[in-house]
Amino acid sequence: MKKVLAVTAGRKNGNTEILAKEVLMAAEESGAVVNMINLHDYDIKPCTGCETCTMKMGKGENPDCIYKGKDDMDRIMEKFLQADGIVISVPSFVLQPQGIYKVFIDRWLPYEVALLIKAGVLSAIPERVAVIITVGGSTQNWMTLSLPALQMSMFMQSIKVVDQMMATKCARPGQVLLYPAFVDRARKLGNNLVEAINTPYDKVKWLGEEGWCPVCHSNLMMRGEPHWDGTSYEIECAMCGAGGSFKLDKGNVKFVVAEDGLKHCRIFTEGRFNHLLEIMETHKHAFQNIETIKSMSEKYKKYKLQGI
Ligand SMILES: Cc1cc2nc3c(=O)[nH]c(=O)nc-3n(C[C@H](O)[C@H](O)[C@H](O)COP(=O)(O)O)c2cc1C
Repeated sequence: MKKVLAVTAGRKNGNTEILAKEVLMAAEESGAVVNMINLHDYDIKPCTGCETCTMKMGKGENPDCIYKGKDDMDRIMEKFLQADGIVISVPSFVLQPQGIYKVFIDRWLPYEVALLIKAGVLSAIPERVAVIITVGGSTQNWMTLSLPALQMSMFMQSIKVVDQMMATKCARPGQVLLYPAFVDRARKLGNNLVEAINTPYDKVKWLGEEGWCPVCHSNLMMRGEPHWDGTSYEIECAMCGAGGSFKLDKGNVKFVVAEDGLKHCRIFTEGRFNHLLEIMETHKHAFQNIETIKSMSEKYKKYKLQGI
């Protein structure tokens, strides 16, 4: 029996929970075993940035977090790992996913499957697919970073995103129910999730609307700058990191991925390994200059401020 887990971060019985439940109802009708958690119900400590996990990873060791066993992360991530389908449904706050979701995903480094494989903790990438949802009181203009951020988080977990939706003009809890098109779209997301779960993993494809980036379907693009290893592209997808340039195609602007444009693409394991190498290189630079850093830091350590 296939398992589908929804992760929400909105109000109890609010819009994001309602849309997640619509997705789950469709999945359950197709025979999946479904479940939902709201991140507000769990103890999730914010990442301190101590880098214990990345230092262990650099040595090829199990990258356990310093908080292992001290909050609910292990419990949640165990279920996350076991699910065949994931539903992420998070409200937009200040153009981005609500903060608790960020706290949640900031803790994912030690759970990143591509890195766990490298450390020998996992033997293969679990075959998981996801759909993502954001809800906001405004229009797309005030929700611009939410879907790309949610989608990006899935790639950190090597989960293939197959569809996404944005429900606009839903400020008060339950207001989404006044828009049948959003509820129908959520049901479609549920059907697409089930379709993807039942497709051989190497054949799983994007089932949503085409976006500017042909790799991840995001419309968020930025001017490129040279990477740590010297590669550079004129334009990069701000979400997945694919590199290329804009071209005119029959009067339309098109983003064309360069021949080597997937080298830093976060969707692919190789792209994420590349980033691990970048972290190791940056650490090396710090270790080689440790005495300089120590002496130059003194001035800032001695400069004491009162706080509030
Ligand atoms: C602090 C705060 C910031 C918000 N920022 C935005 C925003 O930038 N864009 C937007 O469209 N809606 C914004 N909203 C509205 C919520 O996204 C909206 O109420 C949503 O329906 C909440 O989802 P829920 O019902 O699942 O809790 C904000 C709400 C709060 C409380």
